[in-house]
Amino acid sequence: MVVTSSPSQLAKDWAKGYTSQPNEYEYEIQNIEGQIPSDLQGTLFRNGPGLFEIGGETIGHIFDADGMLRVFRFQDEKVYFQNRYVRTKGYLKEQQEQTILYRGFGTQKSGGWLANLFNTNFKNAANTNIIYWGKKLWAMWEGGYPHQLNPETLETIGLDNLDELLNKETFSAHPRIIDDTFINFGVSGISPQTLTIWELNQQGKKIKSSSYPVEGFSIFHDFLVTPNYYIFIKHPFKLNVLPWLLGIKSLEQCLSFDNKSKTKILIISRQRETMEVLETEAFFGFHHGNAWESEDKIYLTTICSNSFPQRKKDKMELDKMSFDQPIFGQLWQLTIDLVTKKVNRQPLIERSCDFPSVHPTFVGKENRYLYLNVASKSTNKTPIQSIMKYDQSNGQYQMWNPGERSFAGEPVFVPRQSPIEEDNGYLLSVVYDASIHRSYVVILDAKNLNYPLTKCYLTHHLPQGFHGTWTPQNFLK
Ligand SMILES: [Fe+2]
Repeated sequence: MVVTSSPSQLAKDWAKGYTSQPNEYEYEIQNIEGQIPSDLQGTLFRNGPGLFEIGGETIGHIFDADGMLRVFRFQDEKVYFQNRYVRTKGYLKEQQEQTILYRGFGTQKSGGWLANLFNTNFKNAANTNIIYWGKKLWAMWEGGYPHQLNPETLETIGLDNLDELLNKETFSAHPRIIDDTFINFGVSGISPQTLTIWELNQQGKKIKSSSYPVEGFSIFHDFLVTPNYYIFIKHPFKLNVLPWLLGIKSLEQCLSFDNKSKTKILIISRQRETMEVLETEAFFGFHHGNAWESEDKIYLTTICSNSFPQRKKDKMELDKMSFDQPIFGQLWQLTIDLVTKKVNRQPLIERSCDFPSVHPTFVGKENRYLYLNVASKSTNKTPIQSIMKYDQSNGQYQMWNPGERSFAGEPVFVPRQSPIEEDNGYLLSVVYDASIHRSYVVILDAKNLNYPLTKCYLTHHLPQGFHGTWTPQNFLK
């Protein structure tokens, strides 16, 4: 008999996945189902929110929770776990004073509007992504500089301006790596904005940078890259900054999604450093899959939603979350004709999905397989729980479902050495199991998702995270 969770049980389980984990651990994982593949040698770095209360006060949004690193180091069929908070200035101060001292995307300081009046002092939460590049480990957050960390100990070294490469710009949490070049972007200004893009070599040194003016207010969370283009999607947002400055509303509550306007596609030539702006119907989405060029067209995959999942108040009441309305997007393919300037959209996956990824060698190149989190049922009104391997050549898919009460996080693709094939590798994902209130890392064979190879159980839970990366070094002491 298949047991199905009721909608309210599912919502409660999902919310339980955002329970704080105040403890920091470091140990070899002993509880392992299956075998760790011998060729899986390296580190899965992950980042995400860790603390949802400070001094008994609940923060306003998961985006504002302090970044907690979750690190799995694989060596000789063993795995070593460590989690550690990024010691940002804000984390240290709030832990010392045990009260919320900073506003955030959806967080207001307590004390009403007066306590928030003209307070533009955001906390760099360092909670969105983590990547090792140019012999530096960075915890990334899109509203500011990255924090540099010691890859062996996870100790926080401090904010990094990349040898003064960064000035007033932010450094996004969604870099892309194409052909051994690290590309990231940042913005400065509120409305209008300036978009700056940097290319770094394998030593982390600047190859080139360029800047572009962007009209109005934009939220650029992610972008795409091909051999010849950077591609940004500018969703139609409006920002009424006055209630935020007056302390009356959080930034989130001052945003509005204008579904009568157009979504704009910024096509920037990497060689010529020129920008062209095309338009399509209004949609919103945080994350993109991959882009590639073919003749006079650019094809790209992106997560699309008809609206922005905006809450009515600045409170994190996750246990009251209803999935009656979609809060995640669906996967679409956009075809951009560079001659006619037309943009066509086609749905690929209609169930809720997010966190798309590809084999790293195929970034910016035509790819067949996308790996992503999806709803376990074919509906867009449930949370994302499963992992899907989606075949763009024929629309077929394989799916691994962790169970009714479990939630798999972003799948990270780890390539096997050879041959280089799009699905010759492993998928690693951190899964939260609400039935036991514990988390584990699952290892899937990307060629066959039907049966997990290995589950490595932690002795405790981890809050559901955001993003992470794999590096072949394991930095074991
Ligand atoms: Fe993201």
